[in-house]
Amino acid sequence: MSFIAFSEQYKPTLEACLQKTLHFELSDPRYLLANAMRYSVMAPGKRIRPLLALAVFQLFSSDIDRILPLACAVELIHVYSLIHDDLPAMDDDDYRRGQLTCHKKFGEDIAVLAGDTLNTYAFELLAQELPRYYSLEKTLHVIREFAQALGILGMAGGQVLDLKSPEAERDVDYLETTHRLKTGVLLKTCIVLPAYLEDASATERAYLAQFGEHLGMLFQIVDDILDVVGSQDELGKSIQKDIAQNKLTYVSYWGLDKARSLAQAEADAALVCLDAIRPRSSAVLEDLIGYLTQRTS
Ligand code: IPE
Ligand code: IPE
Ligand code: MG
Ligand code: MG
Ligand code: MG
Repeated sequence: MSFIAFSEQYKPTLEACLQKTLHFELSDPRYLLANAMRYSVMAPGKRIRPLLALAVFQLFSSDIDRILPLACAVELIHVYSLIHDDLPAMDDDDYRRGQLTCHKKFGEDIAVLAGDTLNTYAFELLAQELPRYYSLEKTLHVIREFAQALGILGMAGGQVLDLKSPEAERDVDYLETTHRLKTGVLLKTCIVLPAYLEDASATERAYLAQFGEHLGMLFQIVDDILDVVGSQDELGKSIQKDIAQNKLTYVSYWGLDKARSLAQAEADAALVCLDAIRPRSSAVLEDLIGYLTQRTS
């Protein structure tokens, strides 16, 4: 199955689950917070991270109810990161997913809190739902891995490197570390944790971890390229922001052609990792690599 067909098949299930998760009945001003969370989560996103978690899970099991809590949690976390990434104090963006950013719509105060609340709510969901299907030991492991992936040695740290890249240290290691941490680690987590929960072998987990690293780099290199060559209509977010904000990106460092060839090298390396876990195989995951390389949104 192609990744697009897979996405068409499972997005409705994922989105119904997100919708249900974000149902709060509040009549006092907290309804603003609930509205802001729903506004940003239910906006049209590609849902790459939960779909990825689902596709990896299906290498091992078909009972998808078991993976829905983790799939929803990762999307909540991703949306928290987008809301904060767009704040005036960070990238200062007005559009996201084809609509006004959370702070433009609800104000910065509510947007900060919507991000915070999505982050903590994701962990509440994991702690509440995972023990229905998995041991407490596995639940704890997943919560710890997620927390690490998001912290100072993970996504938040990567965002700091992105925001504070000093001119003098703009070397290739700094660039790679920034991209690996701000974007790669979360994508890798979506791959490694379903495999862990479903008792993949140590070898399978190691290859899937490598697959995740390459996919994460591919994702952010293409994001950098699309900031330069993409269309605002298709992307649903402002373009040509990275140069305007003097960001260190694959395009600013390497130029467009070399950035494209580095993206292709990551795609090729990701495919090698999938080949290494045969006889387990997933046409969806193989096709996802091509989709992420070619994407225009
Ligand atoms: C955008 O992520 C932020 C990055 C990590 C580059 P996506 O491109 O997955 O955004 P949505 O979820 O489809 O809106
Ligand atoms: C976003 O990177 C990374 C996270 C949200 C953690 P970017 O700042 O490049 O993402 P866009 O281009 O705004 O979507
Ligand atoms: Mg950013
Ligand atoms: Mg940004
Ligand atoms: Mg970007």
